[in-house]
Amino acid sequence: MEEKVLTRHFDAEGIVRLDAYRREGGYTAVEKALTKMKSAEVMEEVKKANLRGRGGAGFPAGVKWGFVPKDVPNPKYLCVNADEGEPGTFKDRYIMSRDPHLLIEGIIIASYAVGVHTAFIYIRGEYEAIAQKLEEAIAEASKKGYLGKNILGTGFDLEVVVHRGAGAYICGEETALLESLEGKRGHPRLKPPFPASIGLFQCPTVINNVETLSNVPWIIRNGADWFLKKGLPKDGGTRIFGVSGMVKKPGIYELPVGTNLRTIIFDYAGGMKEGKELKAVIPGGMSAPILKADEIDLPMDGDSVVGAGSMLGSAAIIVIDRDTPILDVLQVVAEFYAHESCGQCTPCRIGTSWIHKIVKRLAGGEGERGDIDAIIRLASNIKGKTLCPLGDAAALPILAICRKFRQELEGYLTHA
Ligand SMILES: Cc1cc2nc3c(=O)[nH]c(=O)nc-3n(C[C@H](O)[C@H](O)[C@H](O)COP(=O)(O)O)c2cc1C
Repeated sequence: MEEKVLTRHFDAEGIVRLDAYRREGGYTAVEKALTKMKSAEVMEEVKKANLRGRGGAGFPAGVKWGFVPKDVPNPKYLCVNADEGEPGTFKDRYIMSRDPHLLIEGIIIASYAVGVHTAFIYIRGEYEAIAQKLEEAIAEASKKGYLGKNILGTGFDLEVVVHRGAGAYICGEETALLESLEGKRGHPRLKPPFPASIGLFQCPTVINNVETLSNVPWIIRNGADWFLKKGLPKDGGTRIFGVSGMVKKPGIYELPVGTNLRTIIFDYAGGMKEGKELKAVIPGGMSAPILKADEIDLPMDGDSVVGAGSMLGSAAIIVIDRDTPILDVLQVVAEFYAHESCGQCTPCRIGTSWIHKIVKRLAGGEGERGDIDAIIRLASNIKGKTLCPLGDAAALPILAICRKFRQELEGYLTHA
């Protein structure tokens, strides 16, 4: 069953305006958190809810917040990751444009729990109209006393700043995002130290995805037990699955965490387009290793998808049909990562561009014996050998395509 939590108000009349949002019960969670709960209680509730990050890595949000040191003289920051750069992913844009106050409410509650007084929304530059909408919502919330100094008379202060990115996939990686926000080139930092202890401007920083934070008002409003029941005991709530590709009804579907992948594709997204047959599925954005058609009887929660050799990532499901040559898929993946590698780590910088060159050769009908093994060797030399996970994000899907569809790829080796 579709389970509308985050998307519940998407069609409510005028919901982008604060008055309409309040009419639907909006900002009651902020009132509850700030006036009736201690910050430690808010954090405890979010921990109990087992809210796992919706940006890619799936780390529990409450646990991450708990890593921020309590008594430090430096300011603490919250950075909202609204970069939404993973190919196939289009969920955060819906939340921000359809229900911007939901995100703002989540930001206020998270900031209160962690002791943050300045939060940044790092939004991809292409989302200009959405950035403007967020700025309008922030101005409205400030006017009504939900942001700014002495929020609701509680003595808690919070400023929220919208910062536009300039269109680099790497700037969605949390430490590259921090560098970019500081005005530098978006090169990832070595971890540890983790941003929770040394983050933005060398200060403790929490980085969370838009969808992650948008769950927080619901958890505070209805309690962790309610949230857990919507999903799984170790992975609470719903996910907004974005389905694209050769299905009849592409779009977003909010469903309980753990909903079966086949059900999402065939029941919710309407199944394959007329005359098309399923060949493969990318289950969590382009960096998630591909699944073959017979591997999709799979609960869509973080642990189960990892168990199947892939990852849930941003829950962006890309459906590929039998008429699509796997070489086309490989070419898109190879080109994207060669273009988006930030160049800081040699294996990723050189490896992704070599892979792209070989794939182009295959596509141009000049494939040579050993090409597929060369791609596998290059990708294996990227995997685990880079400073940030972009290396793995490039290598793992390429390896999966080469291994699972080797026979089809061998058909392109004209000089074998
Ligand atoms: C190359 C790369 C790109 C990423 N892009 C995004 C992104 O666009 N949005 C996002 O929320 N997380 C992205 N992430 C994941 C972030 O590094 C980080 O894990 C996330 O923002 C943490 O938030 P969460 O715990 O709420 O999921 C990316 C990671 C990598 C390695």
